[in-house]
Amino acid sequence: MDVAEALAVLMSPQGRVDPYPVYERLRGHGPVVQAGPNMYVVTGYAEADELLRDARVQVLDDHLRDDLLPAWRDSPAVSSIARSMLRTNPPDHSRMRRLAAGAFTPRRIAAMRDVVTAQADELVDMMAAAGRDGTPVDFMAEFAYPLPVGVICALLGVPTADRPLFRRWAADLTGILEPEITPAELAVADAGATELRGYFTELVAARRRRPADDLTTALVQAHDAGDRLSGEELLANLVILLVAGFETTTNLLGNGLAVLLAHPGAADVLRRHPEHAPAYVDELLRFDSPVQLTTRTSSETVRVGGAELVAGSWILLLLGAANRDPRRYPTPERFDPWRAQLAPLSFGAGPHYCLGAGLARLEAQVAVPLLLRRLPGLAPAGTPRRRSRLTLRGYDSLPVTVGEPAP
Ligand code: HEM
Repeated sequence: MDVAEALAVLMSPQGRVDPYPVYERLRGHGPVVQAGPNMYVVTGYAEADELLRDARVQVLDDHLRDDLLPAWRDSPAVSSIARSMLRTNPPDHSRMRRLAAGAFTPRRIAAMRDVVTAQADELVDMMAAAGRDGTPVDFMAEFAYPLPVGVICALLGVPTADRPLFRRWAADLTGILEPEITPAELAVADAGATELRGYFTELVAARRRRPADDLTTALVQAHDAGDRLSGEELLANLVILLVAGFETTTNLLGNGLAVLLAHPGAADVLRRHPEHAPAYVDELLRFDSPVQLTTRTSSETVRVGGAELVAGSWILLLLGAANRDPRRYPTPERFDPWRAQLAPLSFGAGPHYCLGAGLARLEAQVAVPLLLRRLPGLAPAGTPRRRSRLTLRGYDSLPVTVGEPAP
């Protein structure tokens, strides 16, 4: 299969459901391959890591966006993401990131352990009640979604009652992160962006009237203090923080539980030894990454992995493939939390390294052992349904039976 054919399969419904065989086809052509006159695909761990940290390699700027999608400014979804820290370059990126970073210091994250534990315990109680008498429950709807959305809403100061609103809006908006998008999918993403922006416009006005001890108030004050954050950047970053804060972590919990249900021996070790949670979570991140790819461009010609990337090219970095690079991870297709080195690329690397990595890890390190301990009979019930998404990989539904809760 040549590179163009492999890429076509990757973007197809089949590749979205199971990209891993396609990654191996691409890897057969080398860790960095040319896929078109101005397009490169990266499957190697070392190469992806190096490019993400290279100052000449940046996220797409407005010029390239103009070439790829001339009407992008009319799209609420694209223009919103484009103004957030996720898709801006220095110096704007560093300025915005600094403003939000205070909420994610290791001390602040560690202080959230009790909140996460209490929420996870409460959700397990609800799952156990819903699954009494062997009724299957959908793990995604009952646990994997509400836990991270609850945590990020607590950080942002979003009222509890509004939490159910975000699942659909965020799922719609994140279609925009796919490497290829149809006009119909773009319209759906735009509708999600419009709802989210409307929601945050009102929350910003409420916090301006009555400040609170939350991240939304901190960002509103940074905006109001003068030139530190424009109105557009304020909205864009609130939307990205909310959406990045749960879409990905929801999928870490879903993908992770599915792997552990398929590896009952490994699950049993974690149930008895929750102190191994950090290694387990990193191996779950590596094995089936909730974020499979990101994109970059280069301002100059860059040499990496035996290839020469021409200035201005579009670079597709397949993080999910890098996480299965056999040069870094022997027998990469095996789930093995005892690997000598982990550090998967699931959170990216370099200046855009995930701001919420510590929080996401904390949530999974608390929730997964807690689920296994409190619901030792948790078992698959029927066929899970994968989302048809390449970038944010996860399940739409993951039916389970809860068994007898532990005393
Ligand atoms: C950036 C993955 C959870 C907030 C990123 C990037 C990745 C990523 C790969 C870099 C994208 C790029 O380089 O183009 C993940 C995964 C998560 C997760 C796999 C869960 C398992 C979270 C959480 C939050 C968050 C919980 C917020 C509370 C952000 C933000 C950025 C980011 C704000 C942009 C940072 C920047 O551009 O400087 N994430 N993320 N993420 N993530 Fe996460």
